[in-house]
Amino acid sequence: SLSAPVARTIQIEQLDGWRKAVSEKTVYVTKNDRGELCVLSSICPHLGCTVPWSASKSAFACPCHGATFSPDGKQISGPALRGMDALQSTVQDGQLMVRFQYFRQLVADKEVIG
Ligand code: FES
Repeated sequence: SLSAPVARTIQIEQLDGWRKAVSEKTVYVTKNDRGELCVLSSICPHLGCTVPWSASKSAFACPCHGATFSPDGKQISGPALRGMDALQSTVQDGQLMVRFQYFRQLVADKEVIG
């Protein structure tokens, strides 16, 4: 069975000209249906709201237009055209490293936009 996803804050460094900007993003550490570690972006694939985990519903539930997703990010209901976006990740020296990317909203296929 699937356990509850865990929210983690990761820091993103972006080089903007000669300035380095650091921002924080929330991701969810969860398991896929093969029991493997999986990291999901918290950005809703519908229109970009931050999707919270609802312990009472045992699902991700987007507050904006009601999309819901299973603990491993698959679509359950609502207007999103795909499940939550998995991010590439690896564990190095016991530390989780996440490659944070943005994906196009409102489309069924996951497409990197930056
Ligand atoms: Fe999440 Fe619309 S932005 S359902």
